[in-house]
Amino acid sequence: MKLMSILTLGLGLAAGPLLADGHASGDAEAGEKVFKKCKACHMMVAGDGTVIVKGGKTGPNLFGLNERVAGSLEGFKYGKSIVAAGEAGLAWNEAEFVDYVADPKDFLKRTLDDKKAKSKMSFKLKKEKDATNVWAYIVSAGTE
Ligand code: HEC
Repeated sequence: MKLMSILTLGLGLAAGPLLADGHASGDAEAGEKVFKKCKACHMMVAGDGTVIVKGGKTGPNLFGLNERVAGSLEGFKYGKSIVAAGEAGLAWNEAEFVDYVADPKDFLKRTLDDKKAKSKMSFKLKKEKDATNVWAYIVSAGTE
């Protein structure tokens, strides 16, 4: 019994910091530079109105993206496919995000198992490293 609680405590302490960072494996500082490729279409503005990155309105605000249901930001006019993916249960995490930004249209086709799926985002971020870094940056900017 005693040994078990020591083990559990030890594991808890070891896993704590890992879990805290578990949703972003990239380098946020490098990702801030990658975001320059996104800001023509995307802004990052916190819930209280704080502007983190002044950006375009062609795409939805990317602040607080971690765990947000895909296609769900109120006031943004998404395409049908990404809304359908969100309704089917897609919420953004690192793996889905990296897969999506590499080729949004192909990602939606696979996710929905629908060859006719479309994406309003035509931009592709091919390098996986850039994608994990920009995800880390978006996550590091915080949540609502
Ligand atoms: C040329 C404009 C453009 C650029 C550049 C662009 N995006 Fe997008 N993005 C869009 C549009 C438009 C949508 C909405 C897609 C839809 O409705 O199908 C979108 C949607 C998204 C979504 C889904 C968000 C949600 O609310 O579900 C993510 C994530 C995303 N973009 C990330 C990025 C990242 C990261 C970059 C830079 C590496 C980037 N985009 C660059 C136009 C762009």
